[in-house]
Amino acid sequence: MYPLKRNRRLRTNEAIRSLVRETIISPNDFLVPLFVVEGKGVKDEIPSMPNYFRYSLDLLENEVKELWSLGLKSVLLFVKVPDNLKDNKGKEALNPYGLMQRAIKTVKNACPEMLVMTDVALDPYSAYGHDGIIENGIIVNDPTADFLAEMSISHAQAGADFVAPSDMMDGRILTIREALEDKGFINTGIMSYSAKYASAFYGPFRDALDSAPVDMVDIPKDKKTYQMDYANRFEAIRETEMDIDEGADIVMVKPGLCYLDIVREIKNAVDVPVAVYQVSGEYAMLKAAAEKGWLDHDAVMMEQITAIKRAGADVIASYFAKDVAILINK
Ligand code: PBG
Repeated sequence: MYPLKRNRRLRTNEAIRSLVRETIISPNDFLVPLFVVEGKGVKDEIPSMPNYFRYSLDLLENEVKELWSLGLKSVLLFVKVPDNLKDNKGKEALNPYGLMQRAIKTVKNACPEMLVMTDVALDPYSAYGHDGIIENGIIVNDPTADFLAEMSISHAQAGADFVAPSDMMDGRILTIREALEDKGFINTGIMSYSAKYASAFYGPFRDALDSAPVDMVDIPKDKKTYQMDYANRFEAIRETEMDIDEGADIVMVKPGLCYLDIVREIKNAVDVPVAVYQVSGEYAMLKAAAEKGWLDHDAVMMEQITAIKRAGADVIASYFAKDVAILINK
């Protein structure tokens, strides 16, 4: 006895499949992470991130124009800070002529309508590779939050549209929001890394920025006192709800693929846009498998990106953004 209902009818050919497809990927979904370095004419491939580069400001200009022409309209800036400018408090982060501040202006000059988000965190500026100021071997919360608020103002002054604190200190969203309001930056948004896990998938990113925690006595070896334990689920909701109460415009789950259960829970629990960061290690895994001929790069990339959106991502930060845009523009 055959069933009356045959689900395969809706899968007969590509026309019917595309008619009933629930999740469609477009360049509008993406936030493109960009790594910026000092120098001229620099386009440095990151060894653990094949086909991903650090750009000096002159070449950053061409890159953002190309992204714009592909329909990619938002970027997330990260800077690689020279070693001699690093210290415990990250004071270079407040330099109005610092690399980040110049990078913001470079993008806005090259492409005035490009949405510019900036990474707000100490680690690229920290001599110890941590997202917080260290006192007596401890990452101190409140002084770090105050510093991040100053950093946010500096980015807003340089022209950033959104600041994106990626540090996981408690209370930093409120501290940043109040500081921005106080200085008149009422339209500068905050995308909060609200559920950011202490993940081993960040390795290639730390290579890209030379920002891994240092191996020294009295310096914490990892980020587990501020980033979340990956065994936890309820905590992600708590963190995210707090950030929204404190003034976050967009919240984020990070990393992506291993955390899609969390993405769906958060999407169901909150009413602000949810971003997902598909991180460097996720990018590196697929590139490596594809290089070996073990996986079909484009097919797996689209499957992963679609899964992230299907799980509930309104915004996807991904190193695959340009590859995806090129593929779907074909
Ligand atoms: C640090 C920061 C990290 C990433 C973004 N901001 C790494 C870390 O927390 O050590 C990781 C992004 C990636 O792996 O792609 N503030």
